[in-house]
Amino acid sequence: MSGFEKLFEPGRIGSVNLKNRLIMEPIGTRYADSYGHITERYKYFLEERAKGGIGLIINEASRMVKPLPWPPFNLAINDDKCIPGLLELTRTMKKYDTKIFIELAHLGIIGSEHDPNLVPAAPSAFRYHVTGVMLREMTRDEIEFVVLKHVEAALRAKKAGYDGVMIDVAHGTLLHMFLSPRVNRRIDEYGGSLEKRCRFTCDAIRRVKEEVGNDFCVIVRMSGEDFLDDGITIQDAANQAPLFVKAGADGLDISAGVFHISAHMFTPTLLQEEGCRVYLATAIKKVVNVPIITSGKLHNPVLAEKILREGKADFIGLARSLLADPQLPNKIREGRLEEIRPCIYCNLGCRHHQIPSEGFRVTCNVNPICGIEGEYKLIKVKTSKKVMVIGGGLAGMEAAIVLAQRGHRVSLYEKENELGGQWNTLASYRPEVSSLTNYLSRELRKSGVQIQNNTQVDIQLVKKLQPDAVVIATGARQKLPDVPGIDGKTVVLANDVLSGKVRSGKEVVVIGGGLVGMETATFLGKQGHKVSIVDIVDIGKDVGYTLKEALLEEIIRNGIYLYPNAVLDRITENGLTIIIFNETVLLKADTIVIAIGSVSNNMLCQELKGLVPELHVIGDSLEPRNSLAAIHEGFKIGNLIPAPVDSGFEETLRG
Ligand SMILES: Cc1cc2nc3c(=O)[nH]c(=O)nc-3n(C[C@H](O)[C@H](O)[C@H](O)COP(=O)(O)O)c2cc1C
Ligand code: SF4
Repeated sequence: MSGFEKLFEPGRIGSVNLKNRLIMEPIGTRYADSYGHITERYKYFLEERAKGGIGLIINEASRMVKPLPWPPFNLAINDDKCIPGLLELTRTMKKYDTKIFIELAHLGIIGSEHDPNLVPAAPSAFRYHVTGVMLREMTRDEIEFVVLKHVEAALRAKKAGYDGVMIDVAHGTLLHMFLSPRVNRRIDEYGGSLEKRCRFTCDAIRRVKEEVGNDFCVIVRMSGEDFLDDGITIQDAANQAPLFVKAGADGLDISAGVFHISAHMFTPTLLQEEGCRVYLATAIKKVVNVPIITSGKLHNPVLAEKILREGKADFIGLARSLLADPQLPNKIREGRLEEIRPCIYCNLGCRHHQIPSEGFRVTCNVNPICGIEGEYKLIKVKTSKKVMVIGGGLAGMEAAIVLAQRGHRVSLYEKENELGGQWNTLASYRPEVSSLTNYLSRELRKSGVQIQNNTQVDIQLVKKLQPDAVVIATGARQKLPDVPGIDGKTVVLANDVLSGKVRSGKEVVVIGGGLVGMETATFLGKQGHKVSIVDIVDIGKDVGYTLKEALLEEIIRNGIYLYPNAVLDRITENGLTIIIFNETVLLKADTIVIAIGSVSNNMLCQELKGLVPELHVIGDSLEPRNSLAAIHEGFKIGNLIPAPVDSGFEETLRG
C-alpha cells in the first residue's frame, strides 16, 4: 500500500537479508514441552505469524544452561536433542521467506520463584525481593562457563538452520544484572567501571561471533533504560552500545524495563503512549553504525513508517500486536488497516494469564485463537439456526460474530444506542481502547449479524420471535456496599464518574482499590481533586502486576492517599468513617465514589428457562469478570451452538 514503502523496503542485518522492516520480537509463550522442546502448538503459532508476512521472527529467550532457574515450558537450546524440532521449525519458515533467530538468555534470577530451593548466582550477593532468597556472587569459573554455553547454543542454532542469534542482555537477565550498577557491586574485572561491567557481555558476543563466523548473524537485545534508581540510564546504554558492536554485534535491539521491578516498561501497558521507547533507540543509533531495532507499542503503521523515514530506527519490532493479529504485516501491506484486530495493551492474556492449570501458556485477550492455531477450525453448520444474542458488550459481540461466521442467522440486541457495553466506560477516558469495539462492530457488519440497538429484550419479544437459541450477554451492574448512609447525596458510582455523567467535589474518597477504583482515583487526581482510596484489602490486590505498577506510579505522582486494609464503617454528611489499625478515622469528602465490583444482570435468564430450545449465559451476566473472560466465553459459545449434549459446556453456560 502506498504510504508504507519504508516498512516494506528490504533490509539487512549482518549477513541476513530481510524482505521487510518488520520483526517479531521474542515472546515467552510457554508453548514448549517440559524439556523445552518445540511442540506442534508452538510450530503452528509461529507458522501463522510467518504466513502473516513478518520479515524476521526471533524466538523467545531460550535456555542454554541446565539445571534451571527457568520458568516451566520455555524453549531450550541446551543440548543437541533440541535440534531436530528446531530444524523442522526453521525449515517451515523458509516456505514463507521469513528469517528466524533465537534469543539466547541466562535468565539469572528471573523464574527462580518456580523453585523454592534454588539459590541463584548473581553478580553480587543481595536479597532478591521476589523470593527473599540471598543470592550468591558468581565465581569467575561460573562466568566463563556461561560464556561457553552461549557459544555452544549459538553453534547449535546454526546447525538447526537459524539465520542468527540474539544475545539477551536486557530486562533483568543475568548479563543485564552484570551491566547494572544497581546490582553489580563487584570489585574484580567484572565490576566497578562501565567497561568492566560490560566485560561478561562483550566476552559472550566476541566468543560467539568468532565461533559462528561472518555468515551467521549475532545481535544483542539491550536495555536503553531500566527506569530504576541506580539502574541503567540512556547515557550508560549509549556508552555500552559501541563496546557491544566492537565485540562483534551485527545489530542492536533496544528494549527497556526490568522483569519484576519496572515491568510496565518491559511490556508497556495501556497507560504508556505509542512508541514510548523509540527515543532510546534513536539515542543509540547516533553512537553506532549497525542496524537498530525499536519496539514497544508500535502497532500503528503510520507511526512505524514515520520512525523509519525520520531515521529514528532501522527496524520495527512487534510482539503483542502479533499475538492479537498474526496477519498484521499483510494487512498493512494490502491497505486493510480497518481489518486489523487491535492489541489493547492490557497484558491480560499474555503477561498475566499465566495459569498453572493451563500450563502457564500465553493467550490473547482479543484473539482467542492465539495459541490454538493448530487445533482450531471454524466449522460451518449444516443446519442454520435462528439465534438471538442479547447484550452488545464484548461477550455478545464476539459470540454473534462467530455464530454468524459459522452460518447461523444471528440478531444482536442492545438496549443502548451504541454497542460496547461497559467497555464504553473505559473508552470514555481511554479512547484508544475503542479500537476494539470499532473492530468488533466492523466484523459484526461483515459477518451479516442483524444489529438491533435501543432494544430492551423481554420475555414477550423472545416468545414472539421464537428463536432456536438465545445467548444472554447482558453484563453486570455496579455493586453497592451495605453500610449506613449509602443512600446519601454525596455517593456516586465509579462508572458514572469515568463516563463524565456526574461531577465530583473537591475532596473525593473512592471506596474500592481494584482496577476501576485505581483508575477512577487517577482520573480525578489528574483533574486536581484531592483523592483517597479505601479498601478492605491491599490496593490493587487483583490487578495484573504490570498494570498495577503503572497505576501505582500515577497514583503516587498525583498525590493520592491510600487506606488499605480499612473497614468502611459509615457514610456521613461530611465524608465517611473507616476503621483502620483498630481506630475509627473520619475522612472528609464532598463526593464518595463506589468501585467495589459488580453483580450480574441475569434476570432474563431465570425468566427464559424452559422457554427456548437452547439457552446460554456468558460473560459478566454469568459472573462478573474481566474482558478476557467475556471475549473468550463469547468465542466459545459461538463455536458451540448447537451445543453437543455431552459437551460439559451445558452445565456452566446453559440456563
Ligand atoms: C508474554 C510476553 C513474553 C515476552 N517474552 C520475552 C522474551 O522471552 N524475551 C524478550 O527479550 N522479550 C520478551 N518480551 C518483550 C517483547 O519482546 C517486547 O519487547 C515487548 O512486549 C514490547 O513490545 P510490544 O509493545 O510490541 O509488545 C515478552 C513480552 C510478552 C508480552
Ligand atoms: S492480551 Fe492484551 S496486551 Fe496481550 S496481546 Fe492480547 S490484547 Fe495485547
